[in-house]
Amino acid sequence: MSKLAIKGGKAVRTKPYPTWPPYDKREEEQLLGVLHSQNWGGYPSPNVKAAEFAAAFAKAHDAAYGVCVANGSFTLDIALKAADIEAGDEVIVPTYTWLATAACAVNVNAVPVFVDVRPDNYTLDPALVEQAITPRTRAVIPVHLGSSVADLDRLLAICKKHKLVLIEDCAHVHGAQWRGKGVGSHGDFGSFSFQSSKLMTAGEGGIVLTSNKLYEEKLQSIVNCGRKGWGYDSFDGWLFGTNARLSEFQAAVLIAQLAKLEKFTLKRQENGAYLTKLLDDIPGLATIKPDKRMTRVTHYQYIFKYDASGFKGLHRDKFLEALAAEGINADGDFYEPIQERPIFAPKLSQYPMLKKRYPKGINAKAAHTPVAHKAAYEEAVWLHYPYLMGTKKDVEDIAKAIWKIRDNLGELI
Ligand SMILES: Cc1ncc(COP(=O)(O)O)c(C=O)c1O
Repeated sequence: MSKLAIKGGKAVRTKPYPTWPPYDKREEEQLLGVLHSQNWGGYPSPNVKAAEFAAAFAKAHDAAYGVCVANGSFTLDIALKAADIEAGDEVIVPTYTWLATAACAVNVNAVPVFVDVRPDNYTLDPALVEQAITPRTRAVIPVHLGSSVADLDRLLAICKKHKLVLIEDCAHVHGAQWRGKGVGSHGDFGSFSFQSSKLMTAGEGGIVLTSNKLYEEKLQSIVNCGRKGWGYDSFDGWLFGTNARLSEFQAAVLIAQLAKLEKFTLKRQENGAYLTKLLDDIPGLATIKPDKRMTRVTHYQYIFKYDASGFKGLHRDKFLEALAAEGINADGDFYEPIQERPIFAPKLSQYPMLKKRYPKGINAKAAHTPVAHKAAYEEAVWLHYPYLMGTKKDVEDIAKAIWKIRDNLGELI
């Protein structure tokens, strides 16, 4: 009789993992407070809750200023605008990320330059960044991915040397620290998302951190329709902006979410370390160790590497199907190299500046990024953070399910 659940056996895990996003009385009280105040919108900008949240979030990440934004995609567009990135400028981005990291460049008529990631932790490879720099390069956007922070020491040194703007895409790493200082405060800008899958969420939302006063003023203007002064009544223009304000309901929820961040970060850090210990015993898997300079580790997605040759040639996606049947739902192609994704299809007619670098359009051949390609289609396994929010037994079940598949590969091959 079959043992594997995918073949009709009993699953390792039938109890669900903790649901997300977590909330308690604090979110309820905050939301009711805004409801009763009848002050719901983003104006005057920044409004009361948005200003309170922005200051607290910036402080928690060691930045001087925070500007709330409607989501973590606009945050990137707006940072590029505040940095005066212009049509035809080049922006270096890692290819193994969500498309917003590259779309922001296209949105300001600049040109994204796709660079591969490091094989050890899938963050932007500084050596390849150096090779990709041209006289048109103006900015670099490393993504702190899954649980890892990109090598900020090397990237900061490169940006300083070449006078480039550094925007940290921190959509995955709320609360993480590099050398004792919060992520998002090392570069010129730090961009965070509060979309529903993230470590802190208000359903949607984002924030840009900066410690440069002029940048902060420009960001405030751009999110508030380009107004010169803050507030609603001033219609004097300064920059060309948009309405990218956060509502008071969202800001209120985020105040409550921030209050829990440290406790949850430590919990995930502890469970993540335990999972690493268990997975390190399984032949055919390789874990990603946090860089020693990361003084606080977060896990948005716990990523590990799967080597089919250690599983008698079983493809990762077949392994993931069997794992899901055992009650552990992990992702394989969570990200694909951006230039290979059908969803990333900016038209050269609409964005003529792209022709300078990509005369045949942006497609799989536009950049050679073998590390990201292998991660996406063969190697990477992504586990969402709720798997690390529960008990030790919850973590042990992950390893148990993998061992079970490994011990019964004959049923799958
Ligand atoms: C790395 C990265 N950058 C940017 C974003 C965009 O954030 P949002 O969904 O809030 O627009 C995301 C969200 O999925 C992301 O994962």
